[in-house]
Parts: sequence; C-alpha cells; structure tokens
Amino acid sequence: MFSITLLPGDGIGPEVTSAAVKVLKTVAEKFNIEFNFKTELIGGASYDKYSTPLTDEVLSQCYSSDVVFLGAVGGPKWENLPHHLKPEAALLKLRKALGLYANLRPAKIYNSMLSYSSLKEEVLKGTDVLIVRELTGDAYFGEPRGYDEQKGFNTMIYTKEEVERIARKAFELARFRNKKVTSVDKANVLEVSQFWRKVVIDVHKDYQDVELNHMYVDNAAMQIVRYPKQFDVILTSNLFGDILSDIAAMITGSLGMLPSASLGSKYALYEPVHGSAPDIAGKGIANPIAAISSVAMMLKYSFQMDKAAELIENSIENTLTKGYRTKDIYKEGDKLVSTDEMTDKIIEEFDKLFAKEAINVFTL
Ligand code: IPM
Ligand code: MN
Repeated sequence: MFSITLLPGDGIGPEVTSAAVKVLKTVAEKFNIEFNFKTELIGGASYDKYSTPLTDEVLSQCYSSDVVFLGAVGGPKWENLPHHLKPEAALLKLRKALGLYANLRPAKIYNSMLSYSSLKEEVLKGTDVLIVRELTGDAYFGEPRGYDEQKGFNTMIYTKEEVERIARKAFELARFRNKKVTSVDKANVLEVSQFWRKVVIDVHKDYQDVELNHMYVDNAAMQIVRYPKQFDVILTSNLFGDILSDIAAMITGSLGMLPSASLGSKYALYEPVHGSAPDIAGKGIANPIAAISSVAMMLKYSFQMDKAAELIENSIENTLTKGYRTKDIYKEGDKLVSTDEMTDKIIEEFDKLFAKEAINVFTL
C-alpha cells in the first residue's frame, strides 16, 4: 500500500487533482494495489481557513506519506498578501522542507499535437527534452534578501554539495535517455555560474558515458525555440530552470500538458506545471493531461511501476490521436471535451491497453 497526500490547492487545482485521483484509482484496481489518499489544504485555500498557506499539520502529513500530489496554488485574491503569506510561499516552503532538490520537467511533443504549438512542425517533430531544474537553492532561497525604500536584493548562491547532487541526478537520468546533458548557466557574467560549471565538469568525470556540453542561458532560451531536438537533458539552476521550463512548455502546445516531479533523497512531490489558472477555475474546462501525466511520473519514479506509467502515457497519446481536446488545445474540427470527459476518455484507453497487455502476458 502507498500513501498519497493530495494538496488540490487553488483555482483549477482541485479539478485536475480529481482527474489524477480517478486515474490512480483505475491503476490501483487494474494492478491490484492500494493507494491511501489523504486530502489537505494548501495555498490560498489554507490561508482562507487558517491564515497561513501551509500549516504544520499539513507539513507533517506530507512527511508521513509516501508521496505528495499538488494541484496548483495562487490567485488574484491573495496577490496582495505579504510575501510569507502568499500561496506561492507554501509551495516554496514545501520544496525546501521536503528537500525536493531535483525538479524534472519533461517536454515532448505528441504526434497528434504537432500542429497545435506556436512553433513550426518541422522544428518540433521528434522533440523530447527533460529539464532538470535545481529546486531548493539559488536566488529563490539565498540570503541576504529583502527590499527597502532605496533598494531590493537577492542572493544567487550555490554550494558545492547542491550543485553536485543535482548534476549527478541529471547524468543518471541521461543514462536512461539519449546520454546527453546540456548544463545551462551564465558563466560569462556570474561567479555563481562559473562555480556551477566547474562543479558540473568535476561530477561529469564519473559519467564519461554521458556527453556534456555547456550553454549560456540566453542562448539556451533561443535554442529551445530554434532547434529543440538538439537537447536531451537540460541541467540548470532554480531561476533559469523556472524560465526555461515555461519556454519549453510551448513545445507541447500548451502549458496544460506539462507534468513535473520534484524529488529529494527521501520525499517526492508531483504536480502539473500549469498553475492555478483562476480565469477558468470551476468551469470544468481545464486540461487534466498535465496532472494525469504527473501521475505517470509518480508511478515511475516513486512506485517503480514503469509499465503502468507507460500505459498512462500511451492512453494520453491515443486519446489525443482520436481528436479529443480540452478548450486550451482546441481547434475547429476537434472534439471539444470537458475536464471530466477528457479524463474518462483517457481511462477508457487505459482499460483497453491494459486488456490487450494482459492478453499478451497470458499468451507469452
Ligand atoms: C513553478 C512556479 C513557481 C516557481 C512559483 C509558483 C513559486 O512558477 O513551479 O515554476 O517559481 O518555482
Ligand atoms: Mn514557473
């Protein structure tokens, strides 16, 4: 049995979390395992009830479960709160408290989505990038930080240990892919990046089977939209990774398609990258694919259920191939579906693929 803390959060968070749970329940039934769910408040939803975006109780609940699934946090309602009470502060605190230093954001293009991106088909075809973003350091957490009437400041800082562990993670993940890591920094200007590059080169000595190259972040931003196929694993720091992963989301056609895993040495959190999208919240039109794809990542990285993960990915692909689209990825001639309908279609495909698979196993 695996225990999963659900943090639906704000905006479309609860809707896409329901979709994720529905898929997890199907997986449990088919693979004959048990998931134990516990739902807690985070972000604005928590603030409204407890005057804090993350309570100690919820944090200890996260510590005591196998994994965390998070929907989204934030919204205009809470925008003017002081920094430490904003919904986003909960997410940052959770990342730090659970030691989730490695953020994996895979951006690949499904064939049936090729004409949906703002990028040209010939640029996109065959693209499959994994961004490995450091998640608990950099200007996000560096001290000193603050602002007064005259100045504002943050500190970009990385320790050797922090760079080493994220670099190892990237090289190890690359070994299961196309064995190529591009480390992205700003070493032509920033000392912290010169240090980053030096440590990455050192760590690489243990991974000679993986190719390593380096790229400045401004150039990387351009290369992602110019010729994304050149990338396999992109290894980068927290702030650069935040920006580059939104750019990379456009490879998939919509931010509504991008899943993520945040991994530490002990804990793991899975969340769609898209955020709370308050403008469409509660309408039942949100795209559940990023959330469902995050479930696939959970099965793969936390539960070692690679087969189930693969079936989910293939179910998403088949559903898209059949022309079903939520509003964010809809074009004339497509079959427009709601969040729930899309989820059910994906589950239908999953059932079919599972049945086929079971026959294969049986006849082998
Ligand atoms: C992300 C988000 C967060 C970040 C915000 C909500 C704190 O943009 O996960 O990319 O900046 O890391
Ligand atoms: Mn971001």
